[in-house]
Amino acid sequence: MIYLDNAATSYPKPQSVIKAVADCLQDYCANPGRSGHKLAIEAARKVFEARETVAQFFNVTDSRNVIFTSNATMAINCACAAILEDSDHVVVSSMEHNAVMRPLRYLEKEGKISLSFIESGSNGKITGDVTQLLQPNTRLVVINHASNVNGVVQDIASITAKIKAYNHSITVLIDASQSAGVLPIDIQKIGCDFLAFTGHKALYGPQGIGGLIINTDRPLKPFIMGGTGSKSESQYQPEFLPDKYESGTVNLPGIVGLKAGIEYVWPQMEKIRTEEMKHIKRVIECLSGIKGITVYWSNSFEHQIGVVSFSHESISCSEIGQRLNDEYSICVRIGLHCAPLAHETIGSYPDGTVRLSVGAFTEDSDIDTFCRAIEQITKV
Ligand code: ALA
Repeated sequence: MIYLDNAATSYPKPQSVIKAVADCLQDYCANPGRSGHKLAIEAARKVFEARETVAQFFNVTDSRNVIFTSNATMAINCACAAILEDSDHVVVSSMEHNAVMRPLRYLEKEGKISLSFIESGSNGKITGDVTQLLQPNTRLVVINHASNVNGVVQDIASITAKIKAYNHSITVLIDASQSAGVLPIDIQKIGCDFLAFTGHKALYGPQGIGGLIINTDRPLKPFIMGGTGSKSESQYQPEFLPDKYESGTVNLPGIVGLKAGIEYVWPQMEKIRTEEMKHIKRVIECLSGIKGITVYWSNSFEHQIGVVSFSHESISCSEIGQRLNDEYSICVRIGLHCAPLAHETIGSYPDGTVRLSVGAFTEDSDIDTFCRAIEQITKV
């Protein structure tokens, strides 16, 4: 089996991640922060250590500003709920995933917020001047760091700097679902207020764990409320981080798996990226040479991650995906990848694309087989 669907979730997982999760389930899977016994204390220590690792990885000064969530979607929903008020204006990039669009479209439909979109080229790269869209009631700007559809990377630091120079009180949320673990992310350098990430993609952790980095001092509303193991005498949600946003039993196996994933990827990020880009270049070359295929990518290797989409003028994406699976045992994702807005931007809506995404375990021979398979499938 050849797995080229790492943008959906990375697979296989490193042995160190598998071991960390298994050790947790076997040796100390008590409820962190809930009881005073040895196992609960050990569990709480593991959560603390993982929070510290995440903080160091994203250069967060205080690890209490790292909130564990179940995924990036929950982190994004949490950030939106924390700051949005009625009559707010929100600006988004035109490459956003439905994790961003659905909560915002819901609020827009309810008449609570208005939305504007930053102009992009047909490769998805932001071309518009975001400051032209800012209004006195603009509360939030959301930028997708790297697209899950065509792999385009946005210059988030310079866009954030422009927004902050224009009006420092506008909140910036970066969706780093596809970029965390691929590109270095230093939240101090970026200067954004929130960063949402997931653990199961390029951080090589298990599914069901992600996080929100809070890099702002402004007052925030709670999102999910409930038991935190702290302030149990009170029926009101604690105001301090991370408890304010971490109600309910946390995903301890996921949290230790995420830590192991970060420890796996961090020392070799540059090496993995070089390999992934080598694979992606070969894929783009191969696809570009086939008559009838349109390749969707950033058109610049500097602004690209290991995700690329394509379609064929007469063979449907579903047929290509099915034949790759059935005849060649190659796993890719087809369709709209939960990002219809991005497809509208790059011109592949409503049919969608075949998406190929590489990872740390992709080998040259996987790409050879993929290229041969596509040549055969598209032969008329
Ligand atoms: N957002 C994930 C993807 O792009 C699941 O496939």
